[in-house]
Amino acid sequence: MSKKIIVAVDEAKQNAAKDIINQLDPNKCMIKIGSVAFNSIGHGIISYSSQKGFDIFLDLKLHDIPNTVKKSIKGLSLLPVKMITIHTSGGKDMILAAKDAVVGTDIKVFGVTALTSLSDSDTSNIFQRTISQQVSVMLDLAESVGIDGVVCSPHELELVKKRPSLLSITPGIRLENSNDDQKRVMTPKKAIELGADYIVIGRPITESKDISKLLEEIYLSIQ
Ligand code: C5P
Repeated sequence: MSKKIIVAVDEAKQNAAKDIINQLDPNKCMIKIGSVAFNSIGHGIISYSSQKGFDIFLDLKLHDIPNTVKKSIKGLSLLPVKMITIHTSGGKDMILAAKDAVVGTDIKVFGVTALTSLSDSDTSNIFQRTISQQVSVMLDLAESVGIDGVVCSPHELELVKKRPSLLSITPGIRLENSNDDQKRVMTPKKAIELGADYIVIGRPITESKDISKLLEEIYLSIQ
């Protein structure tokens, strides 16, 4: 059960990002590079992680017209990344364009269903639906278009598991009761028990005093 843990390296400064990466073990986790690191540090942080032996999840959550998404992903597919993200709410044609862009590579495309920072009241305001209704609609779309997988809160894993063609990546993982911007959280062990294929953990690991020890503890907790 190796590489189920993805550590989100959300740092804008190269030294801070490298310092975290140097304390991680490529046999125990993958690395997630998102807009924070990618937009500030650039491609260099991906090469650095790759040279250290890490598999990379490039989480840019693309959301644009199909042609732009396709061209963006074509460019990104030249980087040593294993998985990339788009927003499922970009619609069927955009998802198909993203899939098209990775043909001939081993990169998997994942669709974000609803951000894990959103509450029921947020989705009621934005989409006039509860979170689980919004996620269900996005999952139906994801499944019908044949995307590789979805990014969702661990609380929606039950909905994902009804659609066996979809892999799942779940952020919103917390070790104990925390009080930050993530609203729909769960422990690593519980998320894995509910069937998460990958769990994304950022600040609980990257802000810990002993990053490698905490990674080891979480790794052991999900075996
Ligand atoms: O620090 P934390 O554990 O909250 O980091 C979670 C990571 O997962 C962040 O990089 C965030 O952008 C990402 N993410 C998320 N919710 C989603 C998709 C991605 O929190 N639906």
